Amino acid sequence: MTDTYIAKVPTNIAFLKYWGKSNEREQWPANDSLSMTLDLYTETLVQVWEGPEHCFSFAGLELPPDAPFAQKPLMYLDFLGKNLGFKEKLFIRSHNDFPASCGIASSASGLGALTLSALACWTRSDSFEALEEKGYTRGAIASLARYGSGSACRSFWGGFVRWYRGVSVDQQTVSQIFPATHWALRDRIVILSAERKSLSSTDGHKLAWTSPLFAKRLAVLEERGKRIEDALARKDLSRLGPLLEEEALEMHEVMKQSRPPCVYLGEDTHRFLDTLRKVRQQEHLACYFTLDAGPNVHLIYEEKDSRNVDPLTKGLRYLDVGVGAGPQLSCKQR
Ligand code: DP6
Repeated sequence: MTDTYIAKVPTNIAFLKYWGKSNEREQWPANDSLSMTLDLYTETLVQVWEGPEHCFSFAGLELPPDAPFAQKPLMYLDFLGKNLGFKEKLFIRSHNDFPASCGIASSASGLGALTLSALACWTRSDSFEALEEKGYTRGAIASLARYGSGSACRSFWGGFVRWYRGVSVDQQTVSQIFPATHWALRDRIVILSAERKSLSSTDGHKLAWTSPLFAKRLAVLEERGKRIEDALARKDLSRLGPLLEEEALEMHEVMKQSRPPCVYLGEDTHRFLDTLRKVRQQEHLACYFTLDAGPNVHLIYEEKDSRNVDPLTKGLRYLDVGVGAGPQLSCKQR
């Protein structure tokens, strides 16, 4: 057995959403996006191995290369090896620190951890510094991860992160705008359905341009991005919250009006959002929602209000997480 390279990469929740690409092959987003890194991780362990193909296991189960869950990571790994000139085959074991059955399909942490651990193994690097010495800066690794899954590039920094759309490969940049310690926000992910979504985000992105609302959305995003960043800078939830909700609902409206429509929100989601609005008004609760490409609701609130949010989620399944500090890399010698 060879040394094991271990990457732990967080997932993130977008405040300004990446929905629609300007170039699918290059994974260029149609607009800037902005996210909060979460304290929720995929850990991936990688070793060199002598088999004819990469071997991938998830949550202790070895997956055949044609298993739906294995196809995307394995195809991406081939792409990475070919483009960077690495020929060694890898033995990969990956797992999430959140339950598989909770409906959080995290391609951001998954593809991020795969990128980091594979590069570390191929270059025999046990830290970000060692990777940088070999030419792989954090920015370069994030750019590579983007080819695996766009949102993965934002997971390479802790705190609050912006992905600038750019207009050429050289202009694709991602950077931290505020560190994790900036503001103790929390994300309570209310799990209303744990089913696998019927349309993957990757397929959903393709439909964005068919929506009559998409061009209108792109025209307002720059201004909304500024306002979100400003509310973050001031740590002003009463300004940030309504912007998060407007943004999430607009993305879902674009989805719904795509041809064919893609509908991720169910009755349960709408019912829960109605309750949230009612309780917020009655109790003056400082708690707002955002949504991903799925039916689950992300409640964003300040840590100090945790107890006030409890009645809203009583009897429901949820994960409650804080702001994440970013990825980690280590190596266990044989
Ligand atoms: C709704 O990053 O999953 O979560 O680049 O095709 O892998 P691909 O898509 P992905 O899209 C994420 C969409 C989103 C919004 C966001 O995270 O910004």
